[in-house]
Amino acid sequence: MRVLVTYGSKMGGTKGIAETIAETLESRGLDVQVESVKSVSGEDLEASDAVVVGGALYASRWYRPARRFVKRNKAALSERPVWLFSSGPLDDSASEREIPPVRQAQKLMDLVGARGHMTFGGRLPADAKGFPAAAMAKKQAGDWRDPAQIRTWAEKIAADLA
Ligand SMILES: Cc1cc2nc3c(=O)[nH]c(=O)nc-3n(C[C@H](O)[C@H](O)[C@H](O)COP(=O)(O)O)c2cc1C
Repeated sequence: MRVLVTYGSKMGGTKGIAETIAETLESRGLDVQVESVKSVSGEDLEASDAVVVGGALYASRWYRPARRFVKRNKAALSERPVWLFSSGPLDDSASEREIPPVRQAQKLMDLVGARGHMTFGGRLPADAKGFPAAAMAKKQAGDWRDPAQIRTWAEKIAADLA
């Protein structure tokens, strides 16, 4: 079974989560492609039996390329098991409790009949560039991605697909 793990990531944090998910699925014997939403082709999607899509959260919205990916590929995604994940809060909240999808991510889930969603903690590099990221990074830089939580969620996907 082939799984596409794709991500919309501005600063690389969501990409890292996608890679951890991909490694976990691979360790469960799945054939995995991990790829930015910007470079996934129609063939990649057609060749996959299931898809995991991740979007970075900016002002309570999914990073636009991720949002567009889901909308653009609505038909292909609706025909496959799909999971979405979001990233993510710059504190421990996502490790402490399950944070529901933002309204927009919920709409995207409904659009393609997604089986599940998870919000993972995010990362803000100390050297983040641009406005307002650079200003935020002076107070709030850090990495709240929780590898154990990410692996546990990916294990559930692997079990669901088995
Ligand atoms: C300008 C800005 C706005 C953000 N807004 C949110 C938000 O609304 N909700 C949230 O959980 N995280 C928010 N974050 C945190 C990001 O989601 C977090 O840094 C994430 O890991 C970034 O992912 P990326 O590195 O893949 O781009 C924001 C970060 C920045 C810089």
